[in-house]
Amino acid sequence: MLAGLGLVLPADGHAAAPARAGRPASRVLRPIPARVPLLGDGYPETAVWGFDGQLPGPELRVRQGDMLRVELQNGLPEPTTIHWHGLRVPHGMDGVPHLTQPPVPPGGSFTYAFRCDDAGSFWSHPHANSPEQLGRGLYGALIVEEPEGAAPQVDRDLTWLLSDVRVGPDAAIRADFGNVRDISHAGRLGNAVTINGRVPQGGVPVRAGERLRLRLINAANARIFALAFEGHAPLLIALDGHPVPPHAPEGGRLLLGPGMRADLVLDMTGAPGARFAITDSFFPRGSYRLTELVYAEAPPLRAVPLPPPAMLPPNPLAEPVPDAEALRMEIVFGGGMMGGLAEATLDGERLGLRELLRRGMAWAVNGTVMAGHLHEPLFTLARGQTCVLTLRNATAWWHPIHLHGHTFRVLARNGAPTPYREWRDTVLMAPREQVQIAFAGDNPGDWMLHCHVLEHHAGGMGGVFRVA
Ligand code: C2O
Ligand code: CU
Repeated sequence: MLAGLGLVLPADGHAAAPARAGRPASRVLRPIPARVPLLGDGYPETAVWGFDGQLPGPELRVRQGDMLRVELQNGLPEPTTIHWHGLRVPHGMDGVPHLTQPPVPPGGSFTYAFRCDDAGSFWSHPHANSPEQLGRGLYGALIVEEPEGAAPQVDRDLTWLLSDVRVGPDAAIRADFGNVRDISHAGRLGNAVTINGRVPQGGVPVRAGERLRLRLINAANARIFALAFEGHAPLLIALDGHPVPPHAPEGGRLLLGPGMRADLVLDMTGAPGARFAITDSFFPRGSYRLTELVYAEAPPLRAVPLPPPAMLPPNPLAEPVPDAEALRMEIVFGGGMMGGLAEATLDGERLGLRELLRRGMAWAVNGTVMAGHLHEPLFTLARGQTCVLTLRNATAWWHPIHLHGHTFRVLARNGAPTPYREWRDTVLMAPREQVQIAFAGDNPGDWMLHCHVLEHHAGGMGGVFRVA
């Protein structure tokens, strides 16, 4: 009887997840105002906007190949959408207002439905008024599990959505969204860093000998993290959801820009009762302890350490072929303070930086400032055509550049080939850096390409490309 309903009742009486085979995971997500104990003990609760009133939103978990169906019911006082960051969804499901769908008005709804072709760590967030909607807490993880038996053997699989908030002494989120100082500098940096929507307190309880899979997702508006795990040797197994040969982060620090993800395998090699710091040293003079690994007194979980993890199975991505048929293009990102931008075009007008700043803009892509989501494409690809892009950062700032609808290989940085040619949907460029990427344009439509520092995007750092 119970099996016929697709439910299995284990001994403790709770319904287990229904069998997955081909069954669409279906649910409602309601972005609504809520109050959460964001800062923790001793502080009042903070008014936020959260999916289902939660910060972060409920974690969505499906198996690779499953259909996901989510009905957005807008409980906010303004229009919104949901973008499925990193998932290669059909154009109409991509959640970009005006470009892929009309914005969903307050009280309105929209149903997203798509198949999750790639396994990995992804996330979702609105794409309308993003600096404010993410800055108030609208983000959630979307985990696509590897097929049965293909996931690495771990004792716990943890998701950490990293972010920060800008709060006043009353614990309220400051409403200075989209101010021109944030737009023209490093974006909106918060003064309280959060893990899963809370300022970490008391550390992370761990057990000696256990192996964790840690899925790190940077959901911050602007903060870049450079994480080090004192006394531990984490191995990267996936970047932006896609497998890489397991390897230690370069220089012992994991660099994670807004929008980016990293999956780590982390072995608890410390002794029972020990504590180890996890630090973020991205800002050299502002290094701080993010949290701690707090070992239980219990003896190690296993006598013999587990063997090193194997590489995860690859996702079904079309390999770019940079032959004579490929489209080659340079995309120059300019603007911001100290960038030397002389002029750029905004809505057909040539303007200097000072005049741009007066209009709340500060950045240009190939000389054009993007206002809003609609634009003439920067380039057009034939279906299946390979695109090799040289992204040139002509500014004094860092930029995580995100492409919609596609996943690209990172081929080279400043002319030097990358060791893993990793697949990504967001690539972090250092000031003045040049990064070469390539992908096959296999998803038809007009797609966004933009900086994921949300204030940079709002300040003009974006564009559209077309796959015919
Ligand atoms: Cu995560 Cu265009 O966005
Ligand atoms: Cu940027």
